[in-house]
Amino acid sequence: MGRILIATDGSEGAAAAIAEGLDLARRLDAEVIFAAVRPPVPDFLGEPLYQKRLSDDLAHARNALEEARKAAEQAGITSEYELLEGDPAEEIARLAETRDADLVIVGTRGLGAVAGALLGSVSSAVVRRSTRPVVVVRQPGERRAEDEAAAGEATPTAGNAGPTAA
Ligand SMILES: Nc1ncnc2c1ncn2[C@@H]1O[C@H](COP(=O)(O)OP(=O)(O)OP(=O)(O)O)[C@@H](O)[C@H]1O
Ligand SMILES: [Mg+2]
Repeated sequence: MGRILIATDGSEGAAAAIAEGLDLARRLDAEVIFAAVRPPVPDFLGEPLYQKRLSDDLAHARNALEEARKAAEQAGITSEYELLEGDPAEEIARLAETRDADLVIVGTRGLGAVAGALLGSVSSAVVRRSTRPVVVVRQPGERRAEDEAAAGEATPTAGNAGPTAA
């Protein structure tokens, strides 16, 4: 019996983390806490943009937790929810300690998903900050780091590689 903390921003990347986390929870007979962190809205937005952004972000985080809840329910796993505000990685790492999580699970990518980057800023910061073990889950079909590297090297080395090319 243990406790697994799964962080979700409602993205495809987080969905992979949720699927893996629920599978682990089932196999380890662990309970699950889902966490969504709403980053602070910048003051400079001013009204009414500030309020709009606040309620949009809140609705998004609630939706993310609701999707996670459904997935857990379908998997027959007991789960709890935390909607936090602040720096996502900091809040996730802190929650892992206060709730005594045995494992923290994040996706490689989230909503920000920029093509080419392998690890988002939140997942890499969670790995750096967390005192609890962290599992980073790749999305199905996502390219591997080695493939990225190989793709990057293929072009410059193709024309001048070894004796056969000469
Ligand atoms: N606000 C958040 N609340 C909870 N979990 C989050 C949040 N943001 C990211 N995560 C977790 O971290 C994982 C990776 O997301 P991350 O934000 O690092 O990548 P990204 O959005 O692609 O890149 P970036 O945010 O750096 O532009 C997500 O799959 C999710 O598990
Ligand atoms: Mg992000």
